[in-house]
Amino acid sequence: MKILLTGGAGFIGSHTCIELIKAGHKAVIADDLSNSKPAVLERLKELTGQDIPFYNIDVADKEKVDSMFAKENFDAVIHFAGFKAVGESVAKPLMYYRNNLDTTLTLLEAMAKYNVNNFVFSSSATVYGVPERVPLVEGMKTGCTNPYGWTKLMIEQILTDAAAADKNLSVVLLRYFNPIGAHPSGRIGEDPTGIPNNLLPYITQVAIGKLPQLGVFGNDYPTHDGTGVRDYIHVVDLAKGHVKAIEYADKNKGTEIFNLGTGIGYSVLDIVKAFEKANDIKIPYVIKPRRDGDIAECYADPTKARDVLGWQAEETLENMCKDSWRWQSNNPKGYEE
Ligand code: UD1
Repeated sequence: MKILLTGGAGFIGSHTCIELIKAGHKAVIADDLSNSKPAVLERLKELTGQDIPFYNIDVADKEKVDSMFAKENFDAVIHFAGFKAVGESVAKPLMYYRNNLDTTLTLLEAMAKYNVNNFVFSSSATVYGVPERVPLVEGMKTGCTNPYGWTKLMIEQILTDAAAADKNLSVVLLRYFNPIGAHPSGRIGEDPTGIPNNLLPYITQVAIGKLPQLGVFGNDYPTHDGTGVRDYIHVVDLAKGHVKAIEYADKNKGTEIFNLGTGIGYSVLDIVKAFEKANDIKIPYVIKPRRDGDIAECYADPTKARDVLGWQAEETLENMCKDSWRWQSNNPKGYEE
C-alpha cells in the first residue's frame, strides 16, 4: 500500500515509516517540522535505502493537502501529526482543539474526495482518564483530564461517526501506552524540545549530564513502591503494531479500537533501576510532590490486539533502556549535530 504518514518525522511516525517499508509498503511523509527536525529524513533514507517523498506542510492546510492527495494516489493514511504536551494544552486549549481537530477534518475531507478509505489514528491511553481498574480494556469508560486528552477522544468520535456514515471507510484507533526506546541502530529516537516532560527522555538527559537529577513525582501512590505505574512499550514494537493495523483496515470496514501496550506495569523506580542496570549508569533522583493530573496506575490489557491483529509486544525492558540510551549517547544533542 502507499501510505501517508502525517507527522511522519516525529518519534513514533519515523519508527513506523521504517517498519512499513520493511513490510513492503510505500511511505510518504507530511510534516511541518514544528516538533521534529529535517535530519530525520536523511536518517530514514540511510536506514531504509529509500528516498521517502516528503511534504513540508501543515496538514490542516486544505489546499496543500488537496494537491498532495491529487498527486500521490494514497491507499491509506496514518495520522500521527498533532500537538501532544499535556501542560501546554491546559494553558492553550484553543490552540490544541484547533490544530488537532482541524488536521483530522482536513484529512477526512481529502480522503473522501480522492477515495482513500483506510485511516489509522494515533490515540492514547489518556482517553481512559482516571481508570476505574487496571488493566485497561478497550470497552471501558472514557473521559479525560486535560484538553490534549479531549482532542484524542473527540477525534476518536469524529472518526467513528465518519466510518458509520461512509460504509467504505475503515478506521483503526490505536491507544498507545508509554512508548520508549529507539531504533536499535541508534540513528533515530525521541528528540524532545526543551526540558522533557516524559520519564525516559528525562532519565537519558540526566544520564548524559544535561540535567542534574530526576524528580520522581510522588512516592505515596497505592502501588508496590509508591511511585506511578505505567505500561512502557518499545517504539519499534509500537511501530509494528501500525503495520498490522493498516493491513487490518485494508481488509475490514467500520471502526475498531486497540490498546497497544505490553500488559506489564512498571513503577518509576523500577524504570530507574532497570535503566541503571542495563547501562551501568547511576541516575540520581529526588522524590518530589505528585504531578497534577497523574494517576497511580495505567497499563493495558493487550489481548484484543493479539487476538484480532496478531500483534504482541516482544521487546524486554532491558532492551528498551539500552536502545533509549544508545540513541541519547550517540546523539547528545538529538538531531542537532
Ligand atoms: C504522559 C501524558 C499522557 C501522554 C503521554 C505520552 C501527562 C499527565 N500524561 O503520560 O497524556 O499521552 O505522556 O506522551 O503528562 N515521571 C516522573 N518524573 C518525571 C517524568 C515523569 O516521576 O520527570 C513519572 C510520572 O509521574 C509517571 C511516569 O513517570 O508516573 C510516566 O510519566 P510520563 O512519561 O510523563 O508519561 P505519562 O504521564 O504516563
